[in-house]
Amino acid sequence: MPPITVVIFLLLVKLELGNCAKPNVLLIIVDDLKPSLRCFGDRNAYTPNIDRLSEKSFVFRNVFAQQALCAPSRNSLLTSRRPNSLHLYDFYSYWRSTVGNFTTIPQYFRENGYHTYSIGKVFHPGKSSNFTDDYPYSWSTPTFHPKTEQFMNSPVCVDQNGSLVKNLICPVIIESQPDGTLPDIESLNEAVRYLEYRRNATKPYFLAVGFHKPHVPFKFPFKYLDYHPIKNVSLPTNKDRPSSLPLVAWNPWTDIRLRHDIELLNVSFPFGPMPDHMSRKIIQAYNAATTYVDDLIGQLLVHVDPNTIVILTADHVCKPA
Ligand SMILES: *[C@@H]1O[C@H](CO)[C@@H](O)[C@H](O)[C@H]1NC(C)=O
Ligand SMILES: *[C@@H]1O[C@H](CO)[C@@H](O)[C@H](O)[C@H]1NC(C)=O
Ligand SMILES: *[C@@H]1O[C@H](CO)[C@@H](O)[C@H](O)[C@H]1NC(C)=O
Ligand SMILES: *[C@@H]1O[C@H](CO)[C@@H](O)[C@H](O)[C@H]1NC(C)=O
Ligand SMILES: *[C@@H]1O[C@H](CO)[C@@H](O)[C@H](O)[C@H]1NC(C)=O
Ligand SMILES: *[C@@H]1O[C@H](CO)[C@@H](O)[C@H](O)[C@H]1NC(C)=O
Repeated sequence: MPPITVVIFLLLVKLELGNCAKPNVLLIIVDDLKPSLRCFGDRNAYTPNIDRLSEKSFVFRNVFAQQALCAPSRNSLLTSRRPNSLHLYDFYSYWRSTVGNFTTIPQYFRENGYHTYSIGKVFHPGKSSNFTDDYPYSWSTPTFHPKTEQFMNSPVCVDQNGSLVKNLICPVIIESQPDGTLPDIESLNEAVRYLEYRRNATKPYFLAVGFHKPHVPFKFPFKYLDYHPIKNVSLPTNKDRPSSLPLVAWNPWTDIRLRHDIELLNVSFPFGPMPDHMSRKIIQAYNAATTYVDDLIGQLLVHVDPNTIVILTADHVCKPA
């Protein structure tokens, strides 16, 4: 495996841009995805659809996370401005009202004859995009958010005793979930509906689709575990905290400590190591959630018109193990 120092990555494909028509653009952003992908050399990964896309794409391996936080990283990427220029570092700042009325990438397409639409988490929702995902500047129509995302942190995971709890690791039966679906499946359906609806349109489109997984909690249909037998999961080689690490650089993962399955471990705060058996299960679940999103991306790409530029990226990721 070649040394990969990627921190953020991007796959870009141009499919048969034969005629003069302006190409459509499909931007896919996968929340908290790191390059745990076969095409980036991760042998624990099972990502056949992204691997296939990478074969006919430019694959960028030496690019960087704008910031290790969704909102400012996405605002940086989508305004093409570095965090140092934007001075935005949190979830609560909207660039138009705090720094400048900067044009975004989708807005630029919109102002140049494109129909633009956002599905799922593209801008970070909330204050950092003015509670509208920057509509109407960036998007031709109001944006779509999956209804079941409201259950993101609800107790919908079945524990060993059959009770519904709020777990970090949360494989589910889709039919038993609230509304009988999952957010990313709703987003896929909306994206397919949009692509079919735009098929005969004269205006080209810029469609952005933001998938929520593999962001925590790892909620995904059970079947994706089949691709990730626990005995195949290898632990990170560098799992110990360096003794000279400055405190400020330590993230004590306060979010996941509040999840039922992690609470049960009673890991000491702030440095207590995650037990190996749980580390394995977490890596397995992350990879299974990634396979789930890979499957949805495969289903989405079937509907993409040949005259389309496809870009696949993530918001902020770490080095592959
Ligand atoms: C910001 O830019 C948008 C789009 O170009 C424009 O419609 C709006 O008037 C601008 N707002 C300000 C305060 O300049
Ligand atoms: C943000 O939203 C508020 C409330 O809808 C609106 O009054 C304001 O003009 C928006 N900001 C910009 C820069 O468009
Ligand atoms: C199952 O129930 C037992 C007895 O109440 C409890 O000790 C145990 O922690 C529960 N297991 C889980 C995974 O919640
Ligand atoms: C697009 O055009 C084809 C062929 O004329 C037609 O069969 C199809 O129904 C049209 N689709 C839409 C969404 O209008
Ligand atoms: C698990 O590992 C075994 C032994 O290395 C390998 O033969 C098998 O294909 C792996 N299974 C999966 C699903 O990756
Ligand atoms: C959790 O760990 C602390 C020390 O780290 C210990 O005092 C406490 O008894 C433990 N609680 C349980 C339920 O094991």
